Amino acid sequence: MIAIRPTPSDHPALVHLAGDALKAALPDVARLRIEVFRAFPYLYDGDLDYETEYLSTLITAQDAVVIAAFTNGEIVGCATGSAIVGHHDAFSEPLSAAGIDLPSTFYFGESVLQPALRGRGIGHAFFDLREAWAARLNYQRTCFCAVKRPSDHPLRPKAYRPLDAFWRKRGYEKLRGAFASFEWRDVDKSQSDRKPMQIWIRAFPTLKTPT
Ligand SMILES: CC(C)(COP(=O)(O)OP(=O)(O)OC[C@H]1O[C@@H](n2cnc3c(N)ncnc32)[C@H](O)[C@@H]1OP(=O)(O)O)[C@@H](O)C(=O)NCCC(=O)NCCS
Repeated sequence: MIAIRPTPSDHPALVHLAGDALKAALPDVARLRIEVFRAFPYLYDGDLDYETEYLSTLITAQDAVVIAAFTNGEIVGCATGSAIVGHHDAFSEPLSAAGIDLPSTFYFGESVLQPALRGRGIGHAFFDLREAWAARLNYQRTCFCAVKRPSDHPLRPKAYRPLDAFWRKRGYEKLRGAFASFEWRDVDKSQSDRKPMQIWIRAFPTLKTPT
């Protein structure tokens, strides 16, 4: 494991997970995803076997990256990413339909952090580190998707703040009309169903050649 960003002592350490350390961390990452995505807007009633399978596939994708946040040896947050080509079919179709070149587009999986540790800049660091990774590998843009829920959803907490403002500040915009769709069972439902997932995208700035 390589610590990639020094942090104040009360902040989680950010670590780029790879190889055996990554394999060993997968069950903890799976548990963390289940815990965090149980809350609105995901409301995901997670399944550890499914999660382990999903993560095992993700980490074998081309150019995969996993950043983990550790506190006292425990994984308290993580963010993932990989190439799109050859991997994320549900995601690549709406991107292709919108005219986006897939081989030069890097996909961000999730970023999840335990609620008690939010608001300290870890979410920004997750973006910084994955964007730097993608740029180093010569990708031209990065993207991710976020579940779309009705604003009057009965399980939406009164104090809920959408992350849209954060993502816009990071330079991301909704790709108009581009939705993936993923299926899972909500915590208050007996059956799984498909949810629309809005695609957000950001192109890296083009460097101007001096004339
Ligand atoms: C996404 C997530 C990892 C961000 O983590 P974080 O460490 O709190 O993020 P940061 O501290 O870097 O803050 C990012 C911005 O979000 C804002 N923010 C903080 N808490 C927030 C909240 N509860 N709701 C909405 N925005 C919030 C911050 O003000 C900050 O904006 P600023 O730069 O203008 O100050 C975390 O919110 C999370 O795990 N959310 C649940 C899972 C999820 O929805 N993930 C995204 C889709 S996969």
